[in-house]
Amino acid sequence: GPLRVLVLGASLRAGSSNARLASLVGRMLTDAGAAVDLAAMRDFDMPLYDGDVEAAHGLPAGALALRDRLERCDAFVLASPEYNASVPGVVKNAIDWVSRVRPQPFKTKHALLVSASPSLVGGNRGLWALRVPLEHLGTRVYPDMFSLAAAHQGFTEDGQLTDSALQERLSETVLAFLRLVEADARYVCLRRR
Ligand code: FNR
Repeated sequence: GPLRVLVLGASLRAGSSNARLASLVGRMLTDAGAAVDLAAMRDFDMPLYDGDVEAAHGLPAGALALRDRLERCDAFVLASPEYNASVPGVVKNAIDWVSRVRPQPFKTKHALLVSASPSLVGGNRGLWALRVPLEHLGTRVYPDMFSLAAAHQGFTEDGQLTDSALQERLSETVLAFLRLVEADARYVCLRRR
């Protein structure tokens, strides 16, 4: 079947520019033949990680729901804002909760990191920070990343990027990522024979 890719907009805000970027990436992947599961962090409500809560109740429902969506995908895309040049607490908290599950769902999954921000850095420093916990957990974080600066004026009415050169660059990154995931899936199939 087609490759399943979870595309997660990592901001809680309804008007999130990272959600817009996530849907654009989702459309690019769908056009390229992938089965896309588009999600938003708001779908996965969870408290701050607390070892006592975990000991008493296990994982909260929101973390288990995110675990399920991750388990069902071959690869995932995270569209995350940058807060104070780093990973938003909401994102790190979700990673921390989900990392407690066994088998650990981030391990060996391919991931593409993208960001959007009204600033000129486009949230790129946040993506570098996001690589640390993900690579620690064994996620194969794609070397190339995409950051959209001036995101408040970055989208057309129909959700494309206003800068066509940037749109092309995003599309090339997304397709190259998908080709890598496909090649790896084929390799794993061959080895299983
Ligand atoms: C920000 N923002 C921000 N932007 C950026 O490019 N670099 C940064 O370091 C920060 N720091 C930061 C800290 C905090 C606490 C907030 C609330 C915001 C701005 C941020 O990029 C902006 O709010 C985006 O619009 C957030 O992404 P969404 O919600 O539009 O997807």
